[in-house]
Formats: sequence, structure tokens, C-alpha cells
Amino acid sequence: LRKEAPVRYDRTRNCWDVFAYGDVHRVLKDSRTFSSVRGAAAGQNLLFMDPPKHTQLRDLVNKAFTPKAIQELAPRIQSIAEQLLDQVTGEEMDIVSDFATPLPVIVISELLGAPKEDRAHFKRWSDILVESAEDVSDEAFQKITEKRMGAMQELTLYFKSILELRAKQPQDDLISALLKAEINGEKLTERDLIGFCILLLAAGNETTTNLITNGVRIVTEQPSIHSELNLSPETIPSFIEEVLRYYPPIVAIGRIATENTEIGSQTVQAGDQIIIWVGAANWDESKFTDPDKFDLHRKPNPHLSFGFGIHFCLGAPLARLEGKIALQALLDRYNEIKLQTDQPLIPIPSSFVFGVKNYPI
Ligand code: HEM
Repeated sequence: LRKEAPVRYDRTRNCWDVFAYGDVHRVLKDSRTFSSVRGAAAGQNLLFMDPPKHTQLRDLVNKAFTPKAIQELAPRIQSIAEQLLDQVTGEEMDIVSDFATPLPVIVISELLGAPKEDRAHFKRWSDILVESAEDVSDEAFQKITEKRMGAMQELTLYFKSILELRAKQPQDDLISALLKAEINGEKLTERDLIGFCILLLAAGNETTTNLITNGVRIVTEQPSIHSELNLSPETIPSFIEEVLRYYPPIVAIGRIATENTEIGSQTVQAGDQIIIWVGAANWDESKFTDPDKFDLHRKPNPHLSFGFGIHFCLGAPLARLEGKIALQALLDRYNEIKLQTDQPLIPIPSSFVFGVKNYPI
């Protein structure tokens, strides 16, 4: 499709698909022509906002979510990773459920300051938020919408109660920092705070789970990469970048055209829905040499897996840190890692997430 129909209209889904790197990059960069305010979540959190509201909110949350604050989490992430691996008994584990799922859930819930006993709810809520309908029927769509609304209601009540507690008694956690954050005397409203907390669950958990699992997939699919990583652990950061390019946890991002415009050779009308395929852009041979080769030393590696422009992933430093620590902890423990099944892998039922449900090793 990238070669034959780099920009095409799909009548069954009523949207444009954009596949080539240059076009995907342009849509992400031009947030005035391509709006993020879309769907049922329009205006509810950063991801679904445009400037000026987006700029104001992002500046505020940036104050609490700095790369320095994230780097300070490294020792704790390391010890969570070690503890999870200590719990594995015997020769086999499922990397998804035993390691790659609990790690980011624990990190985010601790970062937010949510009590330990609530983690199982966190996992269930974040799963529902990213789940897609089972098929394209109206019933399936309604079912998933109701499920999502239920989870959103539960989450709203949950975070409301935590916010009330932290407002009375601040702690050393992100929610307390967000309650304090202020720009020109302006603070976050309760609605924005709750929207942001929910966004962290939706945007940060399954994506990071898939980054870790996809990394382990590469190591098992290409044992020579594993050997090279064992010999030169300093290549882990570039390994993580190449995993992000090669198997992106998020393959597609949505936008709405705000005016009539051209993308490639096609004319898009104001109000049209556009899906940009990051997964296709990351494999575009006009941008990447030998894109279908996993190249541990690829430099530069301008993949678009964290997006680009004003919505560039706020959690990228955290995801990269978790990915590096998780992979390093696994490599330190196991000289050899093998996939332990000959059954086909089951993909996560989502049209924009790339990952598998289980990965026994
Ligand atoms: C935005 C991917 C991890 C928080 C985004 C976007 C992408 C993305 C593609 C841009 C979406 C758009 O332009 O519409 C990923 C991937 C991750 C990851 C691949 C893991 C490998 C995280 C984590 C957090 C997080 C760990 C936080 C704990 C956010 C937030 C935004 C965002 C808050 C919205 C930023 C904005 O709209 O200004 N992410 N993400 N992400 N991500 Fe991530």
C-alpha cells in the first residue's frame, strides 16, 4: 500500500489512510491543519486537544513530568524488575503476564501514588481503555463503547477520591505535584487532573508492555542480536530504539482535517478523518536503509513511534527507561531465551496496538 496507494480513502471505514513517511511526518507536524480533537474523547485529555488548551495543559503537566524526575525512578524500576524475575520459578515464564504487564502498571501506580491493593483494577481499566471492538458490526461497537464508558466512570470516581485525599494531605507523588503545579497563577482543574491521570493509564501501560515484549520477541527471533547484546550491553539504548521502529507498540494515530488540503496526490476535505500509519512510515525505504532488517546500530533512527510535534509522547523518557532496565535485567539473568510454543501467536485485539497476548519463553 505504501508504494501503490500511499494515501487512500477507505469507504468501509470512512477515513483516509496515510502510509508514506513524508506524509505521516507532515500530518503529525501540522497540528493546525490536522486536529486531534476527535471522537467521543474530544477535549477530555491532552491527546484529544488542540492549542491553545493543549499548550496550557501540557506546560502544566511538563512541570511534574520532567526527564530528571523520571531518571530518578531508575533504581526503583530496577528493583521492581528484579523482584518480578525473582518470582519466576522453574524454566519457563510468560513474558507478557509475568513481567512486561506488571512492570509498567506498578511503576505508574507508584508514580501516581495509588495504593498497592488497587493495582489489579488498574490493569483491568487500562486493558478496557485500549481494547477494540471484536468486529466491525454496530453491536460490537456499542458493546465496547459501553464497556469503556463503565471503566471511565469507575476511574473518574477513583481518581476523584485520591485527589481529595492528596489535596488534604500531600505526599511525594505525581498527583500531589500536579495539584501544586501552576503557571501564571493558573492551576489544573479537577476535570483536567482526572483526565490526565486516566490518560497515563491508557497511554502508558499497554504500550510499555508491548515495547518490552516486542524486544524479547526480537531476541528470540534473532539469536545473533542476543549474542551481540550480551557482548556489548552498551548497545541496549539503540536496541530499544530499533525495537520501537521495527515493532512499534502503536501502529496508527488519528487526526481530523480542519480545512481542505492535499496529502500526497489526494485532496482531503475539511472534517475528513485521517489515520496515519506509523508502522508503515517506520518501514519506508525512502527514509530507512534496509527497513526490513533489524539493525542494532541504526543511526540516525528517526522512527515515529512516539509521534512527532506538539503531541510527542510525554512518557517517552519513562518508556525508554523501563524498556532498557527490563531488557538489561532479563539479559543479565538468562544467557539464552527461547520461545516455548509452536502455536500461532495471538495478537492483541486492537487496530492501533501492536503486540501479542502471551509470549511464553
Ligand atoms: C502521546 C506512543 C508510553 C504518556 C503518545 C503518542 C504516541 C505515543 C504515538 C502521540 C499520539 C498522537 O500524536 O496523537 C507511546 C509508546 C509508548 C508510550 C509507543 C511506549 C513504548 C507512554 C508512557 C506514558 C505516556 C509510559 C506515561 C506514563 C503519553 C501522553 C501522551 C502520549 C500523556 C499525550 C501527549 C500530548 O498529547 O501532548 N504516546 N507512548 N506514553 N503519551 Fe505515550
